[in-house]
Amino acid sequence: MSTAISPTAYNYKVVRQFAIMTVVWGILGMGLGVFIASQLVWPELNFGLPWTTFGRLRPLHTNLVIFAFGGCALFATSYYVVQRTCQKRLISDGLAAFTFWGWQAVIVGAGISLPLGYTTTKEYAELEWPIAILLAIVWVIYAVVFFGTIAKRKTKHIYVGNWFYGAFILVTAMLHIVNHASLPVTLFKSYSAYAGATDAMIQWWYGHNAVGFFLTTGFLGMMYYFVPKQAERPIYSYRLSIVHFWALITLYIWAGPHHLHYTALPDWAQSLGMAMSIILLAPSWGGMINGMMTLSGAWHKLRTDPILRFLVVSLAFYGMSTFEGPMMAIKTVNSLSHYTDWTIGHVHAGALGWVAMISIGALYHMIPKIFGRAQMHSVGLINTHFWLATIGTVLYIASMWVNGITQGLMWRAINDDGTLTYSFVEALQASHPGYIVRALGGAFFASGMLFMAYNVWRTVRASDPAEAEAAAKIAVVGAH
Ligand code: HEM
Ligand code: HEM
Repeated sequence: MSTAISPTAYNYKVVRQFAIMTVVWGILGMGLGVFIASQLVWPELNFGLPWTTFGRLRPLHTNLVIFAFGGCALFATSYYVVQRTCQKRLISDGLAAFTFWGWQAVIVGAGISLPLGYTTTKEYAELEWPIAILLAIVWVIYAVVFFGTIAKRKTKHIYVGNWFYGAFILVTAMLHIVNHASLPVTLFKSYSAYAGATDAMIQWWYGHNAVGFFLTTGFLGMMYYFVPKQAERPIYSYRLSIVHFWALITLYIWAGPHHLHYTALPDWAQSLGMAMSIILLAPSWGGMINGMMTLSGAWHKLRTDPILRFLVVSLAFYGMSTFEGPMMAIKTVNSLSHYTDWTIGHVHAGALGWVAMISIGALYHMIPKIFGRAQMHSVGLINTHFWLATIGTVLYIASMWVNGITQGLMWRAINDDGTLTYSFVEALQASHPGYIVRALGGAFFASGMLFMAYNVWRTVRASDPAEAEAAAKIAVVGAH
């Protein structure tokens, strides 16, 4: 690879901004998660006010953790990775700054409009049309900055991490624009351009691919850069990474109907979604294995390096949730799991175990570099964070498995005369202990984020802007 010396430094300012906001939104989004989890234990916490009810705060939680926390992590790392692997500064500082401020404006818009009750009612696409339009504009500019930088790269090939980030950016734009086609009737209310089963299918084509491309493909881009970097080993198989890429993006887009089993959606579409979901296990595990095997010869580093532990454990949870997902997509399994807490457990195995843990690992690797420090203020605190996050995730998902299977079995139990054995309230009472354990697990995870905030603050406080600039210049000289 070329190591040509460039006189210009990378644009680390926008990376720093997004990285700090990842921590801030992580604390708020997960804190809110703990709060709504507590509402399910103590309903009095709804306070009898419309804007603090579970129904309004739940979509605020999902928007904050997915788009604010996850989104900022993706912006920060993709801008960092694309510059270093292309050995090229972002093509425009102004446009990059616009994506930062525009994205924060979208999140603040969500923070105000959702508690007030403004919503399109489509899950993960709740933001009303003025905010949705702003989001689309920011996203198109993001694509311009990212692909423009790739087009002007100094390296010959495009590193595989950028392929994943690129697919995530393009497909997210397509999904967002198609699913938000709607007719505005007032400034804060619009109606979907689609009707009935078509609307449901478009929504879950969007919903599943938001999982597939926003919560998976982008984070795989992160995996392909930060795992080899932190392990100081080349990626296990470049060939496998290419097969992984094409197989994943070809298959994911067909799996949406598994969210609509036993609905008015035509049966063939449900079966197609089920079949594609099962096949999806192969590329998912291909990617997981490629990441894990990168540690060949470096496993001993796990004993001393908590950042590597975050990255490896995130891959283990990725492997687990992408095994569980195809199983839940089987119609007979889904008839038990759907509507129950099992789905919520699956979601957070992916969301906490995979998305949050890989982001946290990547941030701990990246933050010292963008702030011109040799390492984070305290490795011990990273270790504490690692254990809080791991124990928190396990408590969360184990309690939701128990609750989900209990609920599914209680709801379907019938007496000899055909009447239901249990009332809904009885199933709810049986779920109560699980809700307490889940809130506790969430509190573990969220408190880990507070340790991270302190560690980041101490690292940033000790940083010297001149040193950071110098580090950025040296980085251009070095290989990625
Ligand atoms: C091969 C990979 C995967 C497959 C086939 C899959 C399959 C499924 C299935 C069958 C459901 C339940 C649908 C229902 O009954 O309503 C589901 C729900 C969900 N999964 Fe996955 N999953 C996969 C991986 C992941 C990963 C890695 C994440 C997170 C990062 C994730 C996030 C979600 C979310 C957020 C939902 C809930 C959607 C909703 O109803 O709001 N999945 N998935
Ligand atoms: C401290 C950590 C967290 C806690 C305590 C928490 C708690 C919750 C609770 C209580 C719900 C509502 C469940 C229900 O309706 O029964 C929920 C939903 C959800 N959360 Fe979290 N959460 C946390 C972190 C995260 C993170 C980091 C992500 C994503 C990166 C995430 C993504 C979601 C999604 C997608 C849903 C909707 C699931 C569905 O509709 O099937 N959560 N969370």
